[in-house]
Amino acid sequence: MRRRDWLISAAAAPVAAQAMQAGPKNIVISSANGQNACAKAMEVLKAGGDTLEAVVQGVTLVEDDPNDTSVGYGGLPNEEGIVELDASVMHGPTRRAGAVASVRNIKNVARLAKLVMEQTDHVMIVGEGATRFARAWGIPEINLLTERARMAWMAWKQSLRDPEGHNNWTDGLDAPDTKAAAALRTIWPEASDEMIAWAFDMARHPTTGTINCLALNSKGEMSGTTTTSGLAWKIPGRVGDSPIIGAGLYVDQEVGAAGSTGRGEENIRMAGAHTIVENMRHGMDPQAACLDALKRIARNYNNDQKKLNQFDINFYALRKDGAYAGASLWSGRVRRGYMASFEFSVNDGGASRLEKCAWLLERKA
Ligand code: GLY
Repeated sequence: MRRRDWLISAAAAPVAAQAMQAGPKNIVISSANGQNACAKAMEVLKAGGDTLEAVVQGVTLVEDDPNDTSVGYGGLPNEEGIVELDASVMHGPTRRAGAVASVRNIKNVARLAKLVMEQTDHVMIVGEGATRFARAWGIPEINLLTERARMAWMAWKQSLRDPEGHNNWTDGLDAPDTKAAAALRTIWPEASDEMIAWAFDMARHPTTGTINCLALNSKGEMSGTTTTSGLAWKIPGRVGDSPIIGAGLYVDQEVGAAGSTGRGEENIRMAGAHTIVENMRHGMDPQAACLDALKRIARNYNNDQKKLNQFDINFYALRKDGAYAGASLWSGRVRRGYMASFEFSVNDGGASRLEKCAWLLERKA
């Protein structure tokens, strides 16, 4: 098959919604896990609040939610079982930015990134320095690892068998023939079969979930934030794209805003959010701008679909006139037996809704 045969064009892909308005109006978009975040941000916009305050208040709900295992409290930990969070913010009207990375024990890192932006002469603070910065501002420290996330981490450790079947974290050489799931039950005897299955699914398919949230208000002001617990089971200190200004997030008040979720390593290598905003500056609509960025990721692998099939990445773009799009590298992903399409959240004043992402490559079941 020739390369051009499988690189699906924007025209062939399902078309993501593109709302065009006569002038700016309040609108918030985010990754699919942000329906509540979009609703909260819209509430702040309607009350006349600032666009950055709106998106930070929105994603704070997700950071607080123990059931979102890709963001904030309840996020999946690093390989040592410690949750490390990354976040960034950009404020369009003042053209300022803030970011934190590898932060331990602080739940609301988007808010912390905003504090870096507002209260320091720096753009990014990382690791122990970020926790100390938060401590100085009186932000309480908590253990971010929930029991649910700890179970998935233990399932991951137990699933790391070598080809001979050895693993220090399950049973010994002298043990009867037990299965990893049974070993997990010795720690969580009350866990349902569904919980155990979820933990092993997480172990096998580590998330790079994340939430990106972008807002435009009726004055034409724009801001954005991206916040994440990053790649599950990462090497301690690994930083993804979310806190990298220009990769996980970029806002240019004169053009638009963009952000990303998914495998951050791919995004960092091509500065996705900045690329998308520049594409829009040069006339591409948000969907075309996102698909062009995805093509650069495919190109980085010489369009080798076997390699590309090993990860997912999504972009979101909101233009200054209110046009928007979400786009994914792949048409969907198979989880627990069915193909789910990628979606993103939109709120333009009513209830939040999910819309389908456009996509570059078709994934077969
Ligand atoms: N996009 C989130 C991460 O890779 O950390």
